[in-house]
Amino acid sequence: MSETTTQPAAEPAPRPRRVLVLGATGTIGRAAVRALVERGHEVVCFLRPRAGAGGSLSPEASARLLPGATLRFGEVTDPASLVRDGIAGERFDVLLSCLASRTGAPKDAWAIDYQAHVDALAAARQAGVCQMVLLSAICVQKPLLAFQKAKLAFEKALMESGLTYSIVRPTAFFKSLSGQIDRIRAGKPYLLFGDGRLTACKPISDADLGRYLAECLDDESRHNRILPIGGPGRAVTPLEQGEHLFALLGRKPRFRRVPVALLDAIVFTLGALGRLAPPLREKAELARIGRYYATESMLVLNPETGRYDAEATPSYGSESLFDFYARLVAGEAAVERGDHAVF
Ligand SMILES: NC(=O)c1ccc[n+]([C@@H]2O[C@H](COP(=O)([O-])OP(=O)(O)OC[C@H]3O[C@@H](n4cnc5c(N)ncnc54)[C@H](OP(=O)(O)O)[C@@H]3O)[C@@H](O)[C@H]2O)c1
Repeated sequence: MSETTTQPAAEPAPRPRRVLVLGATGTIGRAAVRALVERGHEVVCFLRPRAGAGGSLSPEASARLLPGATLRFGEVTDPASLVRDGIAGERFDVLLSCLASRTGAPKDAWAIDYQAHVDALAAARQAGVCQMVLLSAICVQKPLLAFQKAKLAFEKALMESGLTYSIVRPTAFFKSLSGQIDRIRAGKPYLLFGDGRLTACKPISDADLGRYLAECLDDESRHNRILPIGGPGRAVTPLEQGEHLFALLGRKPRFRRVPVALLDAIVFTLGALGRLAPPLREKAELARIGRYYATESMLVLNPETGRYDAEATPSYGSESLFDFYARLVAGEAAVERGDHAVF
């Protein structure tokens, strides 16, 4: 079986650069900052004063999460604040962004995944930046949802900007595949859509992805490219994820199969109600996001066949999802959930 495997970029130590980071308090942002600092770069993070899911992080708490980086506070959706409070008249070499809407709701997605990035790119250029590393998502290759369209629109703007770019499109994150462990511990069945084999993904760990992003600064083979990237090993289905968790917890596997037609009915009903009652529009989009992940694989899509292709999805890193599950079960790791369980 052939598999494209990308190994960590060859040492020696990289030339230190001044890096402005957006989205540093997110799951992957934290890992990317850690990797940048480890590689000797000078890292300045631009954050909001109340960061984290639900504004749970004070400036002091954010600082504890981002050791070795300089933190500056302001509003990324306000270009004047980014220039005044973030860039502060200094010069930078690289802009690295893990900024992303926490909800995926259409208005927030266009404000964050698109507009904030367009404004940040313009401000960063003025500050001397000539390279950008962007965390995107593999699902933008089949863009059906508002946040995917917003991300794609910014990817296009970045590619046309003339800056050296690396657009990193990862597969699934561990946190998005670990939400059911508490259900199993509570004796409940594992929920599957269809037969649990409708989709597959090659999950990548936070630390491996953070390192991959940081290496984009120096690895010229990753410059001016769109980079789909998954974790080590073969693709896994939701059924296999559930079976593995039951085995680790020493329990008899129990599954509840949810028909995709039920999701379709929810999407249809909320979509219709959303046309009458605007507050329901966001719920309708969340239902569409849920349906998308229940039915689409997080793997490279072959444009000729229209099929997802595990072997064409590059692998990187060392930690597998099942290693992570073992650490979760042993209490050595924890899952950080976002504002919505679908992300
Ligand atoms: N989950 C998956 O399996 C998966 C797979 C592939 C790709 N992706 C993509 O990866 C990206 C990042 O994921 P993640 O899990 O690291 O995201 P995350 O944990 O939700 O972090 C998002 C970051 O963006 C910042 N942000 C969001 N809204 C903001 C606002 N209005 N003002 C200022 N900052 C704001 C957050 O800051 P605060 O802390 O201040 O909120 C946080 O730093 C997303 O684009 C996602 O689509 C996800």
